[in-house]
Amino acid sequence: MTAADPLTGDDPLVERFRTLWAELAGIGRDPATGGYLRYAWSPAELACRDWFVAEATNRGLTVRADGNGNLWADWVPAGVNPAGPAVVTGSHFDSVPHGGGYDGPLGIVSALLAVDELREQGFVPARPVIVAAFAEEEGSRFGLACLGSRLLTGGVTAARALALTDAAGVMLAEAMRAAGADPAAAGPDPARLARIGVFVELHVEQGRALVDLDAPVGVASMIWPHGRWRLEFTGAGDHAGTTRMVDRRDPMLTCAHTVLAADANARWLGGHATIGRVEVRPNATNAVPAQVHAWLDARAADPRTLAELVEAITADATARAASDGTTVTVTPESDSPLVAFDPALAEQIRTAIGSGLRVDVPVLPTAAGHDAGILAGHVPTAMIFVRNPTGVSHAPGEYATDDDCAAGVRALAAALAELAAE
Ligand code: GLV
Ligand code: MN
Ligand code: MN
Repeated sequence: MTAADPLTGDDPLVERFRTLWAELAGIGRDPATGGYLRYAWSPAELACRDWFVAEATNRGLTVRADGNGNLWADWVPAGVNPAGPAVVTGSHFDSVPHGGGYDGPLGIVSALLAVDELREQGFVPARPVIVAAFAEEEGSRFGLACLGSRLLTGGVTAARALALTDAAGVMLAEAMRAAGADPAAAGPDPARLARIGVFVELHVEQGRALVDLDAPVGVASMIWPHGRWRLEFTGAGDHAGTTRMVDRRDPMLTCAHTVLAADANARWLGGHATIGRVEVRPNATNAVPAQVHAWLDARAADPRTLAELVEAITADATARAASDGTTVTVTPESDSPLVAFDPALAEQIRTAIGSGLRVDVPVLPTAAGHDAGILAGHVPTAMIFVRNPTGVSHAPGEYATDDDCAAGVRALAAALAELAAE
């Protein structure tokens, strides 16, 4: 294994991480915000995928795209049955609008470097080790999070997924076709799923638990249940100057009240609720809006609290609509049930990492969604988190230090070695 020089403290793995990371850093970055615009199937995301294919191929891995746009790079040493069960690791390249660069790509870059580490150690896996890049994890383009892993596992039908549209009205099927992929091949892939013996996703932490615990890496225990709801507020469009206040039926008022209700109910119930996206029609300075569409993201530690939270927000929105003379409809768009990661697997990985890095590895829950959460319903799954000094995520300030990223690579390599040893 690469190790830091005891005299100079120089760590060659930190340098390797920096070099590989720098290759991706400019792709899809908006210099004005410093954030990334790597929507699924967009030129920026496709450039990341091309980079992945080149890097994996350079390493002698065999890369294939499945029918759902997920990429799989196989390391199958001579004598190993390519049919599996494989140890799979990876994450996603797509970002939220103006998001950070680490959410997703860190898991893929770390996986490639972990393969390098294992090879340098002379480790030969007894089963295939596969690096995966999943499509549209954030749901930032087509609205449904973890689309690639949901399609793979049958969590969404191909018909529903292919008909999803982006903000410009482009259907997923069209976006796939434009990128050279055949939408007819989308859908459940039981053969691919059967090849996955175990899945491990490394991810930047999206909170400050590891900072507080003074630990460079941690292991996941569970994912809070969460979902997205589309709120449609309808009123009556009119003139901003001439319409008397008493005559207005302004859906923006109902929406504004609902934003406050989401915040108040989430604080009261101990969950999280966010309205981070709104569309206003006609979106004119001098017109009372006719319609407002908003998206609610709600999360809680357990499904009962989550249901209570969404019901309370819906009830407040409905009551306010009645007094504003508007209407509101609430439609679920994306549902991610509670995920309890396999505790025995988490402990096995924690121990393997801890003895390799000689650090204590905390186990923590997260309220963020991941492809690992989808796969956990089908195969033993685990997650490794890398410390995030500020806890900021889904924003340009998201980051991890190069030293911690190197620790993450070592942790992942230790986990893969443990799982692929026999
Ligand atoms: C994905 O990162 C999510 O939690 O929404
Ligand atoms: Mn994310
Ligand atoms: Mn992610």
